[in-house]
Amino acid sequence: MNHEAVDSTLSAMKENARLNHVPIMEDEGMAQLLQLLEQQKPVRILEIGSAIGYSAMRMAIGLPEAVIDTVERDEKRYEDAVQFIRQAGMEDRIRIFHADALEFDTESLSGSYDAIFIDAAKGQYERFFEKYEKLIDSGGTIYCDNMHLNGSIEIPIEQVPKRNRTMVRNLRKFRANMLEHPAYHTVLHDTGDGLMVCTKK
Ligand SMILES: C[S@@+](CC[C@H](N)C(=O)[O-])C[C@H]1O[C@@H](n2cnc3c(N)ncnc32)[C@H](O)[C@@H]1O
Repeated sequence: MNHEAVDSTLSAMKENARLNHVPIMEDEGMAQLLQLLEQQKPVRILEIGSAIGYSAMRMAIGLPEAVIDTVERDEKRYEDAVQFIRQAGMEDRIRIFHADALEFDTESLSGSYDAIFIDAAKGQYERFFEKYEKLIDSGGTIYCDNMHLNGSIEIPIEQVPKRNRTMVRNLRKFRANMLEHPAYHTVLHDTGDGLMVCTKK
């Protein structure tokens, strides 16, 4: 790994995210995710929601043994991610797919994953989970970001702006279902915007 190329690419990604209002993971949540992944030591990671490839690259750097597949539906973000991955010389570690993860043919992903990181449309987490959890074996873990939705998950629904209510209701339901899911051991971390960690029994 060329550390200089990687460091300058990470800085360029942060600047791109700032200028284009791309919601990449914040430092605190990223550090917590990396700490948990370093303990788990996954070799194959799937990410749903690459944006411009920032968290995929941070995972690839933090876990030198891992390869990452990541899916993004927005064309411009996908193209920026491809550029950044190339600029950092990480094409052999990160494979990015331009697709809607809910319609994506999982046959193009070769086999199962040790970890899945869900960081895409917040109202669709249950659907992502149902589609992709088949790709996780016993002992594998699904990480879900933004489980607090900037605090809106905790407040009475009437105080949530109307346009966000379906998303908040969906996320609450998903969180409650996962905390009681008989096939998963689930822990909710309050770090960052709330990281839920679901390990398959
Ligand atoms: C919060 S951003 C991801 C940030 C990224 N994980 C990071 O921290 O660098 C969420 C991304 O998910 C993408 N997204 C939302 N729904 C999606 C779907 N159904 N399939 C693929 N990508 C999706 C959005 O276009 C957006 O770029």
